[in-house]
Amino acid sequence: MKISKAWPVKALVSKAWPVKALVSKAFPLRIDILTLFPEMFNGPFGASIIKRAEDKKLVDIRIHNLRDWGEGERKDVDDHPYGGGVGMVLRVDIIDKALKKLRKKKSKVILLDATGETYTQEKARALSKLNHLILIAGHYEGVDHRVHEHLVDEVISIGNYVLTGGEIPAMVLTDSVVRLLPGVLGKDDSSVDESFKNPSYKEYPQYTRPEDYKRWKVPKILLSGNHEEIDKWREEKSRS
Ligand SMILES: C[S@@+](CC[C@H](N)C(=O)[O-])C[C@H]1O[C@@H](n2cnc3c(N)ncnc32)[C@H](O)[C@@H]1O
Repeated sequence: MKISKAWPVKALVSKAWPVKALVSKAFPLRIDILTLFPEMFNGPFGASIIKRAEDKKLVDIRIHNLRDWGEGERKDVDDHPYGGGVGMVLRVDIIDKALKKLRKKKSKVILLDATGETYTQEKARALSKLNHLILIAGHYEGVDHRVHEHLVDEVISIGNYVLTGGEIPAMVLTDSVVRLLPGVLGKDDSSVDESFKNPSYKEYPQYTRPEDYKRWKVPKILLSGNHEEIDKWREEKSRS
């Protein structure tokens, strides 16, 4: 992950994407995230599977401080809402300027917002097939509605509750998409047979050693060695 100022997209394409990837089918996914709090991304993207995916050049994540496009001495990005009311609203012109720098022909621009379409595994799968995502994390009272109307391709909510900002939703979306990219998960943590492989599927219960812990026992069927019966049991459990 790179926390950068707004880099010209052309430069990023030529420098950061390995030439091999540009000509092969395994084109890496690039994710640009617009935020007022870039430092929030250090922890979640600096470890484990997302970091490994970046190290393997399977994804290129760029975090941009929206304030880089701010105006005036204080780099203002927000203002009071028309019609009155509490809180501040992120300005459409600032977001437009940022998108002008980042958007490419095939970019999908997504605003994270509680009013959006609820996020699902199916959506994660669809997004994982694209080449370029731009995620906008709102803050304060939200963003000027003209961003919804004119600047973004989709508005996504990660659930029916309100968070302080769009950073955690952007992390959730990024994490769920990156783990689906070919080559990101090893065979030990495959994404093929897991919850939501279809909308009603939830994974069956998993157990490991010890076999008996405080008399909490592993179901006998899993110790039987009868794989046909184990498969049946798992299928039943995944439906219940
Ligand atoms: C405090 S919230 C704004 C809430 C807004 N006034 C409302 O009532 O829907 C600030 C930002 O957090 C993000 N956010 C909050 N809840 C979210 C959710 N459930 N899904 C996606 N983004 C969310 C959005 O980017 C939003 O602009």
